[in-house]
Amino acid sequence: MRENVAGKMSGTDMIIREAKLDDVHSIAELDKLCFSMPWSEVSFLKEISENNIALYLVAEIAGQIVGYAGMWLIIDEGHITNVAVHPNFRRRHIGEAIVSVLLAEAQAEGITRQTLEVRVSNFAAQRLYEKFGFQACGIRKGYYEDNHEDAIIMWRENE
Ligand SMILES: CC(C)(COP(=O)(O)OP(=O)(O)OC[C@H]1O[C@@H](n2cnc3c(N)ncnc32)[C@H](O)[C@@H]1OP(=O)(O)O)[C@@H](O)C(=O)NCCC(=O)NCCS
Repeated sequence: MRENVAGKMSGTDMIIREAKLDDVHSIAELDKLCFSMPWSEVSFLKEISENNIALYLVAEIAGQIVGYAGMWLIIDEGHITNVAVHPNFRRRHIGEAIVSVLLAEAQAEGITRQTLEVRVSNFAAQRLYEKFGFQACGIRKGYYEDNHEDAIIMWRENE
């Protein structure tokens, strides 16, 4: 189990650790709060229990899962699937902390570059990824099924 205490928040320790099966319900509930097309609980269950190339981390404060992020580790490429922080806990650098640990863990497992898709309207996420050196490299037209919004494809190379 990967675990590291990433910081103090209002006097409370935040733990970032690998997601486990017990977390699936909380992650799915969090996803519903954060995305217009949330993944199902079954999807997360499969990701965490069956998908050998998936790495999922959660951020936990006082026993509550306040954020999570996932990546598929494909040979030397990391594909970030999702990053989400509970609306009540945003702008406290929790997203940044999870992504930082995710990138470090992936690098330790031999990942040298990472990619993701993000909605063109999602400036918050784009700014977050840019902080880690992700750069926009292309567009997937109409990628999102709900409103046919385009996705920006971002890539990052390890330093
Ligand atoms: C994107 C998301 C994960 C950011 O989480 P967060 O914990 O609030 O972000 P952080 O506090 O770690 O912010 C890190 C950096 O991201 C950028 N950022 C985050 N939220 C932002 C916002 N609302 N507006 C502008 N920049 C923002 C800033 O550069 C920030 O650094 P700064 O505080 O030093 O300026 C969160 O807004 C979220 O869950 N959104 C809904 C789900 C989603 O869109 N996920 C991404 C899918 S691709």
